[in-house]
Amino acid sequence: MIRLDKLLCEMGAGSRSEVKAMLKKGRVTVDGIPVLTGDRKVEEHTVSVCLDGQPLTYAKTAYYLLHKPAGVVTAVRDKTEKTVMDLMQGAAGKDLFPVGRLDKDTEGLLLITNDGALSHRLLSPKKHVDKTYLVLTRDEVTTQMCRCLEAGVEIGDEKPTLPARVRKLPDCEDGILLTIVEGRFHQVKRMLQAVGNEVVYLKRISMGPLTLGDLPAGCFRPLTEEEKKALGVEG
Ligand code: URA
Repeated sequence: MIRLDKLLCEMGAGSRSEVKAMLKKGRVTVDGIPVLTGDRKVEEHTVSVCLDGQPLTYAKTAYYLLHKPAGVVTAVRDKTEKTVMDLMQGAAGKDLFPVGRLDKDTEGLLLITNDGALSHRLLSPKKHVDKTYLVLTRDEVTTQMCRCLEAGVEIGDEKPTLPARVRKLPDCEDGILLTIVEGRFHQVKRMLQAVGNEVVYLKRISMGPLTLGDLPAGCFRPLTEEEKKALGVEG
């Protein structure tokens, strides 16, 4: 059993204050009967809840794509810093967390979910999920540097990095698109350092079948049905 207002928030009807207002206006029905306050307990898996006559569904798992801006940390909570979860106000779903980690100064695509199994699959070193970054660098990325990055470089770990894919940017010598299949700590920065260069701007633009597109920085959206299908999940 769960409080009706909490269920409405988890179903994505709105924030706590928005839910309170919609209840007060009689916009919510429970099993066909208007309910004006949120303190009533309901059985979340069998109850029929409608907002403005439209049925709401209780999604057990939730999947969002967040465009992480620079300056926020990839954590569920932090004592001093703003976290990516602070940007997820109004998102439906319990116990959401970020899949993997982007550095504080890195921008771009971050998957936010409460699906631990999916997270495990995407982060497993054995799965080799592609992650593509837009990398801007201090100096020109030479052909020699590209060859080294593609072959794999020593970054001070037990093993060199696995082969990566490098694409030059049109009309830009000090930038590349780099696709890696691992997720080591500060991996892209360490790879560029290993070839004698330095990252000055980093943005993840894709991860597996997910792409950032034109989602503005600081914003999030639910995954589409096609994206969930491509990830092999439902919800
Ligand atoms: N590689 C890095 O160096 N930093 C990130 O945030 C992601 C990949």
